Amino acid sequence: TILILDFGSQYSHLITRRCRELNVYCEMLPCTQKLKDLSWKPKGIILSGSPYSTYDTDAPRVDPDVFNAGVPVLGICYGLQETTNVFGGKVEACDHREYGFAQLDIVHNDQHPHANKLFEGIQGSMQVWMSHGDAVREAPKDFVVIGKTNTAPFAAIAHVNKPIYGIQFHAEVTHSQRGKEVIGKFVHDICQCKGEWTMESFISKEIQRIREICGDKGKVLGAVSGGVDSTVAAKLMHEAIGDRFQAVLVDNGVLRLNEASQVYKTLRQDLGVNLKVIDAADLFLGKLEGVTDPEKKRKIIGNTFIEVFEAEAARLEGEAEKEIEQGKFSKGKFEWLLQGTLYPDVIESISFKGPSATIKTHHNVGGLLADMKLKLIEPLRELFKDEVRALGRLLEIPDHLVNRQPFPGPGLAIRILGEVTRSQVEIVQHADSIYMEEITNAGLYNQISQAYAALLPVKAVGVQGDKRTYEQIIALRAVTTTDFMTADWFDFPHDVLKRISSRITNQVRGVNRVMLDVSSKPPATIEME
Ligand code: XMP
Repeated sequence: TILILDFGSQYSHLITRRCRELNVYCEMLPCTQKLKDLSWKPKGIILSGSPYSTYDTDAPRVDPDVFNAGVPVLGICYGLQETTNVFGGKVEACDHREYGFAQLDIVHNDQHPHANKLFEGIQGSMQVWMSHGDAVREAPKDFVVIGKTNTAPFAAIAHVNKPIYGIQFHAEVTHSQRGKEVIGKFVHDICQCKGEWTMESFISKEIQRIREICGDKGKVLGAVSGGVDSTVAAKLMHEAIGDRFQAVLVDNGVLRLNEASQVYKTLRQDLGVNLKVIDAADLFLGKLEGVTDPEKKRKIIGNTFIEVFEAEAARLEGEAEKEIEQGKFSKGKFEWLLQGTLYPDVIESISFKGPSATIKTHHNVGGLLADMKLKLIEPLRELFKDEVRALGRLLEIPDHLVNRQPFPGPGLAIRILGEVTRSQVEIVQHADSIYMEEITNAGLYNQISQAYAALLPVKAVGVQGDKRTYEQIIALRAVTTTDFMTADWFDFPHDVLKRISSRITNQVRGVNRVMLDVSSKPPATIEME
């Protein structure tokens, strides 16, 4: 097992991700974790980046035992700077903060073969992803430079005879060319981890775990949305406890066009999951009235979602009791609420909190009611999105479901900037359905990681049928990404854009302009709110 110490960087969990792709089991813990309190001995330690500067008075400090544990250490970004600090080098603020691509020139040290191990077999240079405002100005004693860029002469350093390495670039983000290979060299070659963690082993372990949690009577109420996460979670529950699992879809009024009925069809027909649809659109839209703040919208939807679930559980419970009285039904109570929470959501709530830790409150963890009567069961909480897809394929879920682009819990509410009203929902539903239809017809659906139409809260002047119009604007978003933590905007063929734009402006009432969002993440996010 590799120990990852999280100092609060937005990318920390991607280190976990890369290790797992390399089939190496790892655990990420907050940087405040003391090594002496661990019940297991790591084979290597990775120190993450951080929003702090090492010279801040309240900066998180690395446990000094990390460097005395006799295991290899790799410091990434802040991890490098903190290593430099501990060993007596110098870290200072950069004159020009560096974000984005840089070329890393590998420096080989003939006298110190040990130091070369991290980049062994990599010749010349490679493109790396930088995101830092501080840099090493002076390497500590006994460290040598193993990589540099135009602006960072100490972009990668290594101890001359101990397995301690530091890199300024984020090897864990996919934009870093060969970044995964570098992490591979660390975990496989330097730490000697074998690489035996697989998805099949995950399935059997998880089914076993669910059966143990639920016992032979416990019933689970399942939140499904038709998205890949909740579908895979539902199927996993179905495999584990069969008909003691009841799936429920809440129509919150901000789903895509005809989504509720489509989900009902696919979940029942393809997967045989027993699904109940609750129409709660009025309740949600009522609560959203007059609310424009994105975080408030998310919280309202999260809280209302749980509220509706609990009410449904109580209702089903009442039904079950009646049936027991009539001697028809003898199963136990609903004790659990299934959610398809993924690792990136979890990590935001457990990781070390830097000053900018909460970027958005994800509805499935952020909005939980304090007095919740159901306990949460989250079988996917250790997985990343593409791992969930791999799991779905292994569970024989049909391709069209496995390949479905993600749809956020707060739905169209965070794609209608400003107040959410029924008429705004209708506009965005219509525009979005045209957009998705054209994307599918052009054969682009699987090339895009996520696409949606958003409604901007501004009006612009136009002309239609010789008349002046003063109407709203639809923004088209389409991104490609592997991990949803960084993303590029998708480069549409112009003829496809032309068709989408003309159909939306002609067919969607209340819209006279279509704009294309060409922002990457960072600095934008995938959703607009
Ligand atoms: P951002 O906007 O943070 O989105 O770049 C990253 C991914 O997360 C999805 N997302 C959510 N999913 N509940 C969800 O279930 C949420 O509250 C939520 N907010 C964002 C987003 O659609 C993208 O796939």
